[in-house]
Amino acid sequence: MIVAIDGPAGSGKSTVAHAIAKKCGFTYLDTGAMYRCVTLACLRRGVDVADEGAVTDVARSISIEFLPREGGQTVLLDGEDVTADIRTPEVDRAVSPVSAIAEVRSAMVELQREVAKKGDIVAEGRDIGTVVFPAAEVKVFLTADASARAHRRAVQRQGGDAATGNVVATDKASEEAILADIKRRDAYDSTRKEAPLRAAEDAHHIDSSNLGVDEVVAKVMELIDNAR
Ligand code: DC
Repeated sequence: MIVAIDGPAGSGKSTVAHAIAKKCGFTYLDTGAMYRCVTLACLRRGVDVADEGAVTDVARSISIEFLPREGGQTVLLDGEDVTADIRTPEVDRAVSPVSAIAEVRSAMVELQREVAKKGDIVAEGRDIGTVVFPAAEVKVFLTADASARAHRRAVQRQGGDAATGNVVATDKASEEAILADIKRRDAYDSTRKEAPLRAAEDAHHIDSSNLGVDEVVAKVMELIDNAR
């Protein structure tokens, strides 16, 4: 079975997808982490992210692996643990233009489909239900208002997880900067030519602004049970 979870940054996709993967014994596929790996490799190699040909060469030459671990996963770029390095503000800023390049997308989509050949998966991203797996048995479009999403990201950066109740103090200035970045990325991701962020026609919409993780997970589990 393929469970597709799409939605904007900070909507809670990762937390929910992880929980579903654990409950169902499915492989968790974080496609955003793949675009982040390409971006990090470009930054490290001094490749201009506006140079489509050079970025495409990087995307085709790197190896990306995911190793499951308790409560999450380790991301390896050419064998090196980059789990933290792909979540820096520098990568946040550069990832949108990288993920807008058609050839980069087709290289990543090919890798994503390879993973699905090996067994049941829950994949999260922007175009999973529309482009990567249009025949997915369960499609969810997860949203939340921008300020709720910015708050979650700010808590995450401080080492907490607003979604699971592990709340830590955040400072207002960094939360505002995150909100501005989220809005900028939303606009870019939804209006780009290649595979823009949009809900599949047959996706189930869930707004997580005022829902806890358990409530969202329960809704998705119900969809999975109905699809079985
Ligand atoms: O989910 P995330 O914030 O880690 O994603 C990082 C970026 O990658 C995001 O700005 C959009 C892009 N992305 C994409 O274009 N397609 C996907 N399937 C997943 C992410």
